[in-house]
Amino acid sequence: MGYTAPFITVEGVDGAGKSSHMQVIMDQLSRAGFECILTKEPGGTPLGERLRLEFKTTPMSLTTETLLAFASRAEHLEQVIRPGLSAGKAVVSDRFTDSTFAYQAAANGYPWEHVEALEAMVQGGLQPDLTLFFDLAPDQAASRRQRRGASVAGEDVSKDKFEANGPDWFEAARAGYLRRLEQSEGRMRVIDSSGPIEDVARRVAQTVDDFLQRWIMQPRTRAGLGRSMSGTRPGA
Ligand code: TYD
Repeated sequence: MGYTAPFITVEGVDGAGKSSHMQVIMDQLSRAGFECILTKEPGGTPLGERLRLEFKTTPMSLTTETLLAFASRAEHLEQVIRPGLSAGKAVVSDRFTDSTFAYQAAANGYPWEHVEALEAMVQGGLQPDLTLFFDLAPDQAASRRQRRGASVAGEDVSKDKFEANGPDWFEAARAGYLRRLEQSEGRMRVIDSSGPIEDVARRVAQTVDDFLQRWIMQPRTRAGLGRSMSGTRPGA
């Protein structure tokens, strides 16, 4: 196997501006010599894309919603993330498990410790090596969400279940991210998402660069690349 490549996730409440910077992250990784896979959750696999549609639009119990997030994730880990990392490729995912803590646990009220149990079961010890948490004052994120809605008016982009929530709900989601940040032992790095996009891009590049310099200096072994506890069907 080649050099151990990092698993990077990108997080933030809707409107915090993370999507505009995925390319900056990919460019930094390529420049450091990594082959990269860019992927996202919910989704990232054909089954995951179907689950994503239901997840985002169909009313369902909170337990179902949380389990769907992890069902999509189990498939994503099995089909994309673990094989990519095992092949020595860097994997960058637009959202991962911190989203479930922020949205299903902190904002919607699913018990935090149940999400922790699912995380352990589905990930089997595999964690991102770096998570960029795009953070923006809640009122600014709200106005970006509004502008985004306005700029795509005309297309059928009726707000999904999550984006239709009010400011208090998004504040609760942000508090969930901040709780994860405290527990993350340095895995999560905050990107101040305020100000001109070029400034945010510079912060992203700097943070990824700092991370990669340390990463390349210290060869790693990785937990959780084997099959998860839930396993894969024989022959699948
Ligand atoms: P998406 O259109 O991908 O939004 P964004 O561009 O902001 O990432 O929709 C994903 C939505 O699903 C988003 O509102 C966050 C939510 N979500 C959860 O509630 N739980 C999860 O575990 C994940 C991965 C996403």
